[in-house]
Amino acid sequence: MLEPLRVAVLVSGTGSNLQALIDACRGGAMGAEIALVISNVPQALALERARAAGIPAVTVNHKDFPTVAAFEARLSQTLAAQRIDLVCLAGFLRILSPGFVSAFPGPIVNIHPALLPAFGGKGMYGERVHRAVLASGARQSGCTVHFVTAIPDAGPIIAQATVPVESGDTPATLAARVAKEEHRLYPEVVRLFALGRIRLDGDRVSVLPLDSALRTESR
Ligand code: GRF
Repeated sequence: MLEPLRVAVLVSGTGSNLQALIDACRGGAMGAEIALVISNVPQALALERARAAGIPAVTVNHKDFPTVAAFEARLSQTLAAQRIDLVCLAGFLRILSPGFVSAFPGPIVNIHPALLPAFGGKGMYGERVHRAVLASGARQSGCTVHFVTAIPDAGPIIAQATVPVESGDTPATLAARVAKEEHRLYPEVVRLFALGRIRLDGDRVSVLPLDSALRTESR
């Protein structure tokens, strides 16, 4: 039997995606375990969700550190201490430096509430994304799970789900429709990682068929 994939979820806010991941991993059927939750915001509701599920939940507040490098050094130590295989950003409102991203030994992924490469990049988060989608007149929106790279929201795309934009939508109604898909898609991607089915070649992602999965006991 393979050890479950050890996942850390980095958050700053409500944590509804964290909750979806916790719920999906419960019982072990995913082959993944939420082993750690880190928030940079001490009062984030996500921390309470983690604690309620018995998951180690720590605050690493960027404001407590003199430099980004010092903040990220603490993040790295905290991840290493829990032997984390995969980092999932879920509403984590700090941009990780290229040095941090390349030094972490496993994949770092993020979920974004729109269909990248549109409606992403620095400053595009929360309601602003849905506002921009509505202003553009797009008939579809959705969510994207992607590898994190040095450029915000520009890493290789792993999976997407679409939702219609309805006439009469407000940012809030569109956000709610997108969130529902986020809560389905993110656990599905973590499951694929746990099965060793996600391969990154340069900037292209492939999802391997079940019988050629790469993850082995010697990981
Ligand atoms: C989600 O919409 C996610 O796509 C974005 O931040 C939001 C986090 O929401 N990156 P929650 O904290 O998971 O409820």
